[in-house]
Amino acid sequence: MSTMTINGQSKPLPDDGDVLLVDVIRDQLALTGTKLACGSGVCGACTVLLDGTPVISCLLPAQAAAAKTLTTVEAIGGAKLHAIQKAFMAHDALQCGFCTPGFIVEAAAFHDRWRAVKGAATPSREEIAAALSGHLCRCGAYENIFRAVADACAGRFDGDNVTSPRMEARDKVTGAARYTVDIRHHEQLEGVILRSSAAHARITGLDLSPARALPGVAAAISLLADDSIVRYVGAPIAAVAAKDRRTALAAIAAIRFEAEPRPAAIGLDAARRADAPVVFAKADRKYAGNVSEGGGSPAPWKGNVRGPSAAFSQKGKRAKVWLTAAREKRDPLLVEETFRVATQSHACLEPHAAVARFDGDRLTVHVSTQAVHEVMEKLCKRYKLTHDKVRVIADHVGGGFGSKGSVGTETITAIELARAANAPVKVAFDREEELSVTGYRPAAEIKVGLLPSAQGDLKALSLTAHADTGAATNSTIAALARLIYPAEAKELVDFDVISNLPPGAPFRGPGGPPMAFALEQAVDEAALRLKVDPISLRKRWDPDPNRQRLYDWAESLDLWRNRKEVATQSGRYRRGVGVAAGYWLYFWQPGSSIELAITGGRIVAKTAVQDIGTGTRSVIANTVAKAFDLEPADIEVRIGDSSLPKGPGSGGSRVTASIVPPTLAAIAKLKAAIEKSATRPPLAGSNAPWRDLIAASSDIVVSAERPKDNRPAIGISSPLKQAGLMGMIFGWMLRTFNGIVVGAGVPSSVQVMEVEVDTWLGHARVLNAYTGLCIGKLAARVLADSQAVGSVIQGIGYALYEAREIDPLTGQVLSSNMEDYRIPGIADMPRCEVHFDEAGFDHVPGGSVGVGEVATIPTSPAIANAIRNAIGVRPTEIPIRPDRIVAALKGRNAA
Ligand code: FES
Ligand code: FES
Repeated sequence: MSTMTINGQSKPLPDDGDVLLVDVIRDQLALTGTKLACGSGVCGACTVLLDGTPVISCLLPAQAAAAKTLTTVEAIGGAKLHAIQKAFMAHDALQCGFCTPGFIVEAAAFHDRWRAVKGAATPSREEIAAALSGHLCRCGAYENIFRAVADACAGRFDGDNVTSPRMEARDKVTGAARYTVDIRHHEQLEGVILRSSAAHARITGLDLSPARALPGVAAAISLLADDSIVRYVGAPIAAVAAKDRRTALAAIAAIRFEAEPRPAAIGLDAARRADAPVVFAKADRKYAGNVSEGGGSPAPWKGNVRGPSAAFSQKGKRAKVWLTAAREKRDPLLVEETFRVATQSHACLEPHAAVARFDGDRLTVHVSTQAVHEVMEKLCKRYKLTHDKVRVIADHVGGGFGSKGSVGTETITAIELARAANAPVKVAFDREEELSVTGYRPAAEIKVGLLPSAQGDLKALSLTAHADTGAATNSTIAALARLIYPAEAKELVDFDVISNLPPGAPFRGPGGPPMAFALEQAVDEAALRLKVDPISLRKRWDPDPNRQRLYDWAESLDLWRNRKEVATQSGRYRRGVGVAAGYWLYFWQPGSSIELAITGGRIVAKTAVQDIGTGTRSVIANTVAKAFDLEPADIEVRIGDSSLPKGPGSGGSRVTASIVPPTLAAIAKLKAAIEKSATRPPLAGSNAPWRDLIAASSDIVVSAERPKDNRPAIGISSPLKQAGLMGMIFGWMLRTFNGIVVGAGVPSSVQVMEVEVDTWLGHARVLNAYTGLCIGKLAARVLADSQAVGSVIQGIGYALYEAREIDPLTGQVLSSNMEDYRIPGIADMPRCEVHFDEAGFDHVPGGSVGVGEVATIPTSPAIANAIRNAIGVRPTEIPIRPDRIVAALKGRNAA
């Protein structure tokens, strides 16, 4: 038997030449710092050092490490932290942290080589990008990674001291942070799902016995719904639990089933044809998924088309009449265009995963989820269990972006298998599943009509959106144009086009980016027709006080003031500058609670919220520490566990606004309780009275629930009131059925982008990104900055690179690996500056609202407007691929 030396210890290697190195590291040696994300050598998450050289362990046979020395992230700094680890911590070069171990290993090797040759010289951005180009970060932590690597190489982290704005940063840079995929109970089984290869069929017979008969298989179950119909390729049919993944896969292959094929409607165009096969009969509509964060408004449903949903129109008929008249008389101010956006996959690096375990009648489930408390409640309802019998845990979550907000197939499957096998079961999706069946931002076709009056006011606006939602409904794209740019009349119409494709899911500001891509380009075009500055026009048409201040800021940027007129350049490379605005709603979740305790002289904060990379622990710690004149590290924060007091879900940018106010209320209670129970006053002359009082305090527990907001300042009102009766109804539905309140004031973003376009090859890249944000006071500035920049790079991916591809004949997702589904890498990261305007939310206790959604909404139109400024041709379809730019320049359409 051969051996390797791993982190200083000799370990045996399996003789089986098919076993991969990553599996030995993670499963056999339990060194779970090394992550498995893409499994195909693209993302770098599984990087380790083999004889000092970074290698991809997901592609390497374990035998390749025979007689060699292996170093994983757990040992990268030896007994201390490596300078790179300290720099990542200090610069907040991480969010969810799932990619971080791979980056750390690669960057540490680069650092060591660099220092040996170049001393303490600072590497350039290009040199760092080249060194780390084999790594992907879906959260988009690239900007701070640049800073961290540059500073570490320059020797700025050679000392021992390090602090981090992120509470859990040390765990993430050392590989100690445990995600759901890292959970391993004694005698845990591996669950795998058998999925449909047909886009539409009824399963008429299912025989699980061949699977159950295989040695090592503990359970096999059906996952078919009551109607036994599969409606997309990848729909679950059955699942097995076995001693390991290889056995489970063999068992899946052994299952026999008969299927009665049905005609399928695949994609937007096929599904909306009058003679298209119907995906959901009327009685089956309950099986449809949901692509929005709240419920949708009621709408008729004919064939595969659900809509029109036009409740947010305002004098819609009048808008139609005016636009038709303007078209007929060829009004030169009328802007009419059809925009198309592609399907964007969440592509979380940690896959959807769950590990379920029964202890008697108690169920514990580790889930990679955005909502531990809500998942617990739903599981209790589903299995008719009381809250004390179900515990949902998510210590760390490797990204969600909206796709992990509800109870998913992975969770139900793990639970059902654990029950059937009477053993703990893990179900973790592979990358193909992750990129095909876990949801996406639907593609859409959006027709815009925008008519300014002769005086330059906004007279009529029309948006009609058809969203390619797959086996799901409730897209809201056009409706979101109601709350920006008031017009004399607006016609806003949404349609879902349901087809035999996997269901879409909520994705960071659902509906916002496609709406903005269309609307913000139409406004830009109107500015060109009116011959006015695009920011001036927005200032005129958009009275929102928060965005007015952001427009002032954008107008003052040198980049904006010095921009060239449209298409005045003639060389191969042309630069352009574009602007766009966006908004999101300010959501908060009633009932969100926190417990603050003094335990053994230390403050402990507890709430059942989770951290998906947004820095929730740090937001809570900062808020408490500031009130008591302590350091955040003095506060112990316990989250990610449904047995703690009810916390909010991480969706709709609602965590900060839901959890800071009860934290402030609990702080007030705790202060009063400490003072009341103090046995002795602070030491004479102490300049840290709270520290002294807390240290001397007996154990105390207080808790508080999210209070209502205060009365907002004049000029700030509920956007739902602005949206009239339908807005009020929508608000009531959100609160009643989703437990979410829409508060007063509108979180806003204005972005200015500079692009460079290669007019020969059609390649566009973003050089500079300026993001102005109005999200109230910052509960954790560095982390808010990280979120904002990450949202921008995700928006750049949406604008330029990302598109799910399907086979229109079979419904198979063709882009189900990370080579074919391209997310931005570090070299795509422009220089990014964030401007925070902290006014506007003083009525919120603590003054803070969320950042994650609003910062991604204007990115794609700002880029498109910049391209229009550079080359004089407007991109109407994203991703804005090179072939589309070249075709547009040549005046023809790309294939
Ligand atoms: S998991 Fe190995 S490169 Fe992505
Ligand atoms: S921090 Fe990189 S993937 Fe989340």
